[in-house]
Amino acid sequence: MNMLIKNLTKTFVFSTILLMSTTFSNKATAQEGKTIFNTYCAACHKMDKDLTGPALLGVEERWGNDRKKLVAWVKNSANLIASGDKHANEIFAKWNKLPMTPFESILKDAEIDAVLDYIKDWKPAVAATTPGQGEQQPSKFKGLIIFLGIATSILVVMAIFLFFRLQTLKGMSQRGGQLRSDDAHLSPNDGH
Ligand code: HEC
Repeated sequence: MNMLIKNLTKTFVFSTILLMSTTFSNKATAQEGKTIFNTYCAACHKMDKDLTGPALLGVEERWGNDRKKLVAWVKNSANLIASGDKHANEIFAKWNKLPMTPFESILKDAEIDAVLDYIKDWKPAVAATTPGQGEQQPSKFKGLIIFLGIATSILVVMAIFLFFRLQTLKGMSQRGGQLRSDDAHLSPNDGH
């Protein structure tokens, strides 16, 4: 009986962890990147159009895929410009020396990474040809995973509950059986 409870608990914990990791792992950072972009960057940047700042589509390639330098730029562009970095100075000059907000005290390195990932993975809306498809599929899939996870959890809880009910019933029927045989023993009709 202890073994069974142990195994059931193990299954429950394992399926919960599996559910959490599939649901939240990659998606969380992509979602986080998008949120950060909309909160801190969208005021000056669009992906596919120049705004106050340049369009950011393909920016990673323009910086020779130098993620470290890009992070340094977002943290404090003035520092990178002062360090004499060629690309940083070019882009600064091109944008009439308009300074970009330094984010070093606002965003953590991991958050800057997340937003740069979001920028890197951003694709112009192919959704124009198949409306909504690109957005909808992952969320449908996510919904399914959540549903399956919840269903599994409920089943496991029910299994544990039923197991204990069964134990109780077994115990009762055993005691019941004993009572009945005692009854039979005490019965006045007995023993003749
Ligand atoms: C106040 C406006 C402003 C905000 C807010 C802003 N930027 Fe900028 N950004 C600029 C400007 C202007 C430039 C052009 C370079 C310059 O003049 O400093 C630039 C340049 C850049 C570049 C280099 C572009 C290239 O073509 O090489 C990157 C990358 C960048 N920004 C990322 C970000 C990210 C990520 C955020 C949000 C965390 C952000 N920016 C928020 C104004 C802004």
